[in-house]
Amino acid sequence: MSKKQQSIIEVKDLHKSYKNDGLSYHVLKGVNMSIKRGEYVSIMGPSGSGKSTLLHILGLFDKFDSGNYFLDGIDVNHLSETEKAKVRALKIGFVFQMFYLIPSLTVLENIILPGLIVNRPRNELIEKAKHIAEKFGILEILEKTPNKVSGGQMQRSAIARALINDPAVILADEPTGNLDSKSGKAVLDLFDELHKEGRTIVMITHDSNVAKRAQRTLYIFDGFISEKPYHKSD
Ligand SMILES: Nc1ncnc2c1ncn2[C@@H]1O[C@H](COP(=O)(O)OP(=O)(O)OP(=O)(O)O)[C@@H](O)[C@H]1O
Ligand SMILES: [Mg+2]
Repeated sequence: MSKKQQSIIEVKDLHKSYKNDGLSYHVLKGVNMSIKRGEYVSIMGPSGSGKSTLLHILGLFDKFDSGNYFLDGIDVNHLSETEKAKVRALKIGFVFQMFYLIPSLTVLENIILPGLIVNRPRNELIEKAKHIAEKFGILEILEKTPNKVSGGQMQRSAIARALINDPAVILADEPTGNLDSKSGKAVLDLFDELHKEGRTIVMITHDSNVAKRAQRTLYIFDGFISEKPYHKSD
Protein backbone atom coordinates (compact mmCIF):
# COMPACT_ATOMS: atom_id res chain seq x y z
CA MET A 1 0.00 0.00 0.00
CA SER A 2 1.51 3.32 -0.99
CA LYS A 3 0.83 6.37 1.18
CA LYS A 4 0.35 9.93 -0.01
CA GLN A 5 -0.05 12.12 3.00
CA GLN A 6 -1.10 15.52 1.73
CA SER A 7 -3.89 14.46 -0.68
CA ILE A 8 -6.90 12.61 0.59
CA ILE A 9 -8.07 12.06 -3.00
CA GLU A 10 -5.55 11.63 -5.80
CA VAL A 11 -6.83 10.63 -9.24
CA LYS A 12 -4.58 10.04 -12.22
CA ASP A 13 -5.63 9.56 -15.84
CA LEU A 14 -8.94 7.97 -14.91
CA HIS A 15 -11.04 6.49 -17.70
CA LYS A 16 -14.59 5.17 -17.54
CA SER A 17 -16.85 3.89 -20.31
CA TYR A 18 -20.35 2.50 -20.25
CA LYS A 19 -21.53 -0.11 -22.71
CA ASN A 20 -25.07 0.28 -23.99
CA ASP A 21 -26.46 -2.12 -26.63
CA GLY A 22 -22.96 -3.04 -27.76
CA LEU A 23 -21.93 0.61 -28.07
CA SER A 24 -19.26 1.99 -25.80
CA TYR A 25 -19.73 5.47 -24.37
CA HIS A 26 -16.53 7.04 -23.06
CA VAL A 27 -17.63 9.26 -20.13
CA LEU A 28 -14.34 10.02 -18.33
CA LYS A 29 -11.39 10.37 -20.72
CA GLY A 30 -8.42 10.89 -18.46
CA VAL A 31 -9.47 12.73 -15.33
CA ASN A 32 -6.72 14.09 -13.06
CA MET A 33 -7.55 15.62 -9.73
CA SER A 34 -6.14 16.08 -6.31
CA ILE A 35 -8.03 17.07 -3.19
CA LYS A 36 -6.28 17.94 0.04
CA ARG A 37 -7.36 16.85 3.47
CA GLY A 38 -9.81 19.41 4.85
CA GLU A 39 -10.63 20.96 1.48
CA TYR A 40 -14.19 21.85 0.44
CA VAL A 41 -14.51 21.39 -3.33
CA SER A 42 -17.53 21.70 -5.60
CA ILE A 43 -17.92 20.03 -9.00
CA MET A 44 -19.99 21.51 -11.81
CA GLY A 45 -20.67 20.42 -15.38
CA PRO A 46 -23.52 19.94 -17.84
CA SER A 47 -26.08 17.18 -17.35
CA GLY A 48 -24.65 13.87 -18.55
CA SER A 49 -21.03 15.07 -18.32
CA GLY A 50 -20.11 12.38 -15.80
CA LYS A 51 -20.30 14.15 -12.44
CA SER A 52 -22.21 11.35 -10.69
CA THR A 53 -20.08 8.73 -12.46
CA LEU A 54 -16.94 10.35 -11.03
CA LEU A 55 -18.43 10.71 -7.54
CA HIS A 56 -19.55 7.06 -7.52
CA ILE A 57 -16.01 6.03 -8.47
CA LEU A 58 -14.58 8.26 -5.71
CA GLY A 59 -17.05 6.64 -3.29
CA LEU A 60 -15.94 3.13 -4.39
CA PHE A 61 -19.48 2.35 -5.56
CA ASP A 62 -18.37 1.97 -9.15
CA LYS A 63 -15.34 0.61 -11.00
CA PHE A 64 -13.17 2.46 -13.50
CA ASP A 65 -11.50 1.09 -16.63
CA SER A 66 -7.98 2.44 -16.21
CA GLY A 67 -5.97 4.98 -14.28
CA ASN A 68 -5.16 5.32 -10.59
CA TYR A 69 -7.11 6.38 -7.57
CA PHE A 70 -5.51 6.82 -4.17
CA LEU A 71 -7.99 7.33 -1.34
CA ASP A 72 -6.29 8.49 1.86
CA GLY A 73 -3.09 6.94 0.51
CA ILE A 74 -4.71 3.60 -0.35
CA ASP A 75 -4.27 2.40 -3.94
CA VAL A 76 -7.83 1.39 -4.83
CA ASN A 77 -6.56 -0.82 -7.70
CA HIS A 78 -5.04 -3.16 -5.14
CA LEU A 79 -8.21 -3.75 -3.12
CA SER A 80 -10.43 -6.82 -3.31
CA GLU A 81 -14.21 -6.25 -3.37
CA THR A 82 -14.44 -7.11 0.35
CA GLU A 83 -11.64 -4.70 1.23
CA LYS A 84 -13.30 -2.03 -0.91
CA ALA A 85 -16.58 -2.40 0.98
CA LYS A 86 -14.74 -1.99 4.28
CA VAL A 87 -12.73 1.03 3.09
CA ARG A 88 -15.95 2.56 1.74
CA ALA A 89 -17.79 2.10 5.04
CA LEU A 90 -14.95 3.60 7.07
CA LYS A 91 -13.64 6.37 4.83
CA ILE A 92 -16.61 7.61 2.78
CA GLY A 93 -19.79 9.38 3.80
CA PHE A 94 -22.10 9.65 0.80
CA VAL A 95 -25.02 12.11 0.57
CA PHE A 96 -27.52 11.70 -2.28
CA GLN A 97 -29.95 14.10 -3.90
CA MET A 98 -32.82 11.67 -3.14
CA PHE A 99 -31.65 11.06 0.46
CA TYR A 100 -32.08 7.24 0.19
CA LEU A 101 -33.08 6.64 3.78
CA ILE A 102 -34.51 3.16 4.34
CA PRO A 103 -38.27 3.71 4.73
CA SER A 104 -38.93 0.80 7.11
CA LEU A 105 -36.32 1.97 9.64
CA THR A 106 -36.55 4.92 12.01
CA VAL A 107 -34.32 7.93 11.43
CA LEU A 108 -32.10 6.77 14.33
CA GLU A 109 -31.78 3.25 12.85
CA ASN A 110 -30.90 4.77 9.48
CA ILE A 111 -28.20 6.96 11.02
CA ILE A 112 -26.48 4.10 12.89
CA LEU A 113 -26.66 1.58 10.03
CA PRO A 114 -23.19 2.23 8.52
CA GLY A 115 -21.74 1.72 12.01
CA LEU A 116 -23.52 -1.61 12.48
CA ILE A 117 -22.13 -2.73 9.11
CA VAL A 118 -18.59 -2.37 10.48
CA ASN A 119 -19.57 -4.09 13.74
CA ARG A 120 -19.41 -1.12 16.07
CA PRO A 121 -21.34 -1.53 19.33
CA ARG A 122 -24.97 -0.41 19.06
CA ASN A 123 -24.97 1.59 22.31
CA GLU A 124 -21.92 3.57 21.28
CA LEU A 125 -23.52 4.28 17.87
CA ILE A 126 -26.80 5.45 19.43
CA GLU A 127 -24.94 7.83 21.71
CA LYS A 128 -22.97 9.22 18.78
CA ALA A 129 -26.11 9.50 16.60
CA LYS A 130 -27.87 11.48 19.36
CA HIS A 131 -24.90 13.79 19.68
CA ILE A 132 -24.90 14.51 15.92
CA ALA A 133 -28.71 14.81 15.87
CA GLU A 134 -28.62 17.41 18.60
CA LYS A 135 -26.13 19.47 16.62
CA PHE A 136 -28.21 19.08 13.45
CA GLY A 137 -31.53 19.98 15.15
CA ILE A 138 -33.16 16.61 14.42
CA LEU A 139 -33.30 15.09 17.93
CA GLU A 140 -37.10 15.14 18.01
CA ILE A 141 -37.48 13.08 14.82
CA LEU A 142 -35.13 10.19 15.70
CA GLU A 143 -37.93 7.71 16.43
CA LYS A 144 -39.94 8.64 13.33
CA THR A 145 -39.78 6.86 9.98
CA PRO A 146 -38.51 8.96 7.03
CA ASN A 147 -42.01 9.36 5.49
CA LYS A 148 -43.08 11.31 8.59
CA VAL A 149 -40.41 14.04 8.29
CA SER A 150 -39.70 16.92 5.90
CA GLY A 151 -37.21 16.84 3.00
CA GLY A 152 -34.82 19.11 4.87
CA GLN A 153 -35.00 16.84 7.93
CA MET A 154 -34.43 13.78 5.70
CA GLN A 155 -31.31 15.33 4.22
CA ARG A 156 -29.96 16.34 7.65
CA SER A 157 -30.60 12.73 8.77
CA ALA A 158 -28.78 11.43 5.68
CA ILE A 159 -25.81 13.70 6.47
CA ALA A 160 -25.82 12.42 10.06
CA ARG A 161 -25.74 8.88 8.64
CA ALA A 162 -22.82 9.88 6.41
CA LEU A 163 -20.91 11.06 9.49
CA ILE A 164 -21.54 8.16 11.86
CA ASN A 165 -18.23 6.42 11.09
CA ASP A 166 -16.22 9.68 11.03
CA PRO A 167 -15.34 9.32 7.35
CA ALA A 168 -12.25 10.87 5.82
CA VAL A 169 -14.35 12.35 3.00
CA ILE A 170 -17.95 13.45 2.55
CA LEU A 171 -19.15 13.05 -1.04
CA ALA A 172 -22.42 14.80 -1.87
CA ASP A 173 -24.29 14.47 -5.18
CA GLU A 174 -26.60 17.50 -5.54
CA PRO A 175 -27.43 17.49 -1.82
CA THR A 176 -29.74 20.51 -2.14
CA GLY A 177 -31.29 19.46 -5.47
CA ASN A 178 -34.56 18.28 -3.91
CA LEU A 179 -34.87 20.90 -1.20
CA ASP A 180 -36.64 24.25 -0.99
CA SER A 181 -34.28 27.19 -0.65
CA LYS A 182 -34.59 27.43 3.15
CA SER A 183 -33.81 23.72 3.74
CA GLY A 184 -31.08 23.91 1.10
CA LYS A 185 -29.47 26.79 2.95
CA ALA A 186 -29.64 24.84 6.22
CA VAL A 187 -27.80 21.93 4.56
CA LEU A 188 -25.16 24.26 3.10
CA ASP A 189 -24.71 25.95 6.50
CA LEU A 190 -24.16 22.47 7.95
CA PHE A 191 -21.50 21.76 5.31
CA ASP A 192 -19.79 25.06 6.21
CA GLU A 193 -19.64 23.92 9.82
CA LEU A 194 -18.31 20.48 8.90
CA HIS A 195 -15.68 22.14 6.75
CA LYS A 196 -14.68 24.41 9.66
CA GLU A 197 -14.28 21.28 11.79
CA GLY A 198 -11.68 20.14 9.25
CA ARG A 199 -13.69 17.65 7.22
CA THR A 200 -13.09 17.10 3.51
CA ILE A 201 -16.17 17.70 1.33
CA VAL A 202 -16.68 17.10 -2.39
CA MET A 203 -20.05 18.36 -3.59
CA ILE A 204 -21.69 18.21 -7.00
CA THR A 205 -24.09 20.99 -7.89
CA HIS A 206 -25.81 22.57 -10.89
CA ASP A 207 -26.13 25.87 -9.09
CA SER A 208 -23.20 28.29 -9.29
CA ASN A 209 -24.37 30.04 -6.10
CA VAL A 210 -24.18 26.70 -4.29
CA ALA A 211 -20.79 25.92 -5.89
CA LYS A 212 -19.43 29.23 -4.55
CA ARG A 213 -19.91 28.02 -1.00
CA ALA A 214 -16.92 25.69 -1.55
CA GLN A 215 -13.30 26.87 -1.49
CA ARG A 216 -12.67 25.71 -5.01
CA THR A 217 -14.74 24.57 -8.00
CA LEU A 218 -13.82 21.93 -10.57
CA TYR A 219 -15.59 21.73 -13.92
CA ILE A 220 -16.24 18.55 -15.92
CA PHE A 221 -16.70 18.82 -19.64
CA ASP A 222 -16.14 16.44 -22.56
CA GLY A 223 -14.68 13.77 -20.30
CA PHE A 224 -12.08 15.99 -18.67
CA ILE A 225 -11.92 17.98 -15.47
CA SER A 226 -10.56 21.49 -15.21
CA GLU A 227 -10.17 24.34 -12.74
CA LYS A 228 -11.52 26.68 -15.42
CA PRO A 229 -15.18 26.98 -16.42
CA TYR A 230 -15.93 25.69 -19.89
CA HIS A 231 -15.82 28.26 -22.71
CA LYS A 232 -17.01 27.40 -26.21
CA SER A 233 -13.86 28.89 -27.73
CA ASP A 234 -11.55 26.58 -25.70
N1 LIG B 1 -25.08 2.67 -15.43
C1 LIG B 1 -24.99 3.29 -16.60
N2 LIG B 1 -25.04 2.61 -17.77
C2 LIG B 1 -24.92 3.21 -18.96
N3 LIG B 1 -24.72 4.53 -19.11
C3 LIG B 1 -24.66 5.28 -18.00
C4 LIG B 1 -24.78 4.71 -16.69
N4 LIG B 1 -24.66 5.71 -15.78
C5 LIG B 1 -24.49 6.83 -16.49
N5 LIG B 1 -24.47 6.59 -17.81
C6 LIG B 1 -24.26 7.60 -18.87
O1 LIG B 1 -23.03 8.26 -18.61
C7 LIG B 1 -23.14 9.66 -18.82
C8 LIG B 1 -22.77 10.40 -17.56
O2 LIG B 1 -23.77 10.18 -16.58
P1 LIG B 1 -23.73 10.85 -15.16
O3 LIG B 1 -24.90 10.34 -14.40
O4 LIG B 1 -22.40 10.65 -14.54
O5 LIG B 1 -23.91 12.40 -15.52
P2 LIG B 1 -24.11 13.66 -14.58
O6 LIG B 1 -23.07 14.67 -14.95
O7 LIG B 1 -24.17 13.24 -13.16
O8 LIG B 1 -25.52 14.20 -15.05
P3 LIG B 1 -26.70 14.93 -14.22
O9 LIG B 1 -26.24 16.35 -14.03
O10 LIG B 1 -27.87 14.85 -15.13
O11 LIG B 1 -26.90 14.20 -12.94
C9 LIG B 1 -24.57 9.90 -19.30
O12 LIG B 1 -24.55 9.98 -20.69
C10 LIG B 1 -25.31 8.69 -18.83
O13 LIG B 1 -26.39 8.40 -19.69
MG1 LIG C 1 -25.67 13.25 -11.71
